[in-house]
Amino acid sequence: MRISTAVFSIAILIYAAVLVYTFIISPYIKEESIVLAIEEEMGKEPVHVQSEVCKQCHLEVFTNLSLGNHSGVECAACHGTGKEHAKLRTAGSIVVEDTRDACMICHKKIAGRNIPTVEENHGSGVRCSYCHDPHSANVPSE
Ligand code: HEC
Ligand code: HEC
Ligand code: HEC
Ligand code: HEC
Repeated sequence: MRISTAVFSIAILIYAAVLVYTFIISPYIKEESIVLAIEEEMGKEPVHVQSEVCKQCHLEVFTNLSLGNHSGVECAACHGTGKEHAKLRTAGSIVVEDTRDACMICHKKIAGRNIPTVEENHGSGVRCSYCHDPHSANVPSE
């Protein structure tokens, strides 16, 4: 009896430890490492090597981006590397992710983040591009 109670208690402890790790510690580590990775990227000097390729065919978007609040953000941050696309020049060969999540990767309010952030409910759940041009990253007057 006593031995099985001890075994049972140990099993419960292990189970609890796994739960704590999976649902509390692990997501925290993940979020922290994403923040660190983004901050490292942000710290770099903007090198428009890849965007220069896109500029060849999308001068208007490139100019719009360069002159606005997203001047330090590469095309690749939102559209992927676009290697295939530069060859194929078709709509289906490039990533266009027009979702709130795609913007929140960088703009979600997280402690220590040093770029303008917004609350989860900012813009009432509407697509960000409905109010902000993703390229110029304009801030509309209310
Ligand atoms: C050699 C010319 C060329 C280069 C270089 C090029 N594109 Fe394009 N891109 C096009 C053309 C042409 C279209 C229009 C395709 C269509 O509508 O059928 C297009 C369309 C797009 C679209 C819209 C896709 C859609 O679903 O509507 C995006 C986004 C895009 N390009 C991003 C990029 C990015 C980012 C780069 C740099 C990696 C790039 N392009 C480089 C020619 C180019
Ligand atoms: C911050 C994210 C972001 C960056 C950086 C970005 N784009 Fe986009 N782009 C989007 C989103 C979202 C859409 C679809 C919504 C829209 O068209 O407004 C889009 C649409 C497009 C389109 C199709 C519509 C249009 O406006 O012509 C092209 C072409 C394009 N992007 C090219 C580029 C190029 C070239 C660069 C770099 C010079 C770039 N984008 C940088 C997010 C971005
Ligand atoms: C790769 C990271 C990244 C992504 C993805 C991104 N942004 Fe940004 N955004 C930035 C940076 C960096 C700035 C410039 C902050 C500064 O000037 O200090 C910025 C600035 C802005 C600003 C101007 C804020 C201000 O007060 O000046 C707006 C608005 C904005 N982004 C909207 C968007 C939208 C909408 C999307 C999705 C289509 C998006 N961003 C995706 C990094 C990002
Ligand atoms: C219904 C329109 C609307 C939508 C949708 C919207 N915004 Fe905004 N956004 C605004 C307005 C207006 C402002 C300026 C006033 C303010 O700060 O609330 C603003 C400000 C911002 C700023 C600057 C905040 C600062 O403190 O400087 C950022 C960054 C931003 N928005 C990002 C986003 C992102 C990311 C999304 C999508 C998740 C989004 N917005 C969706 C209207 C909108």
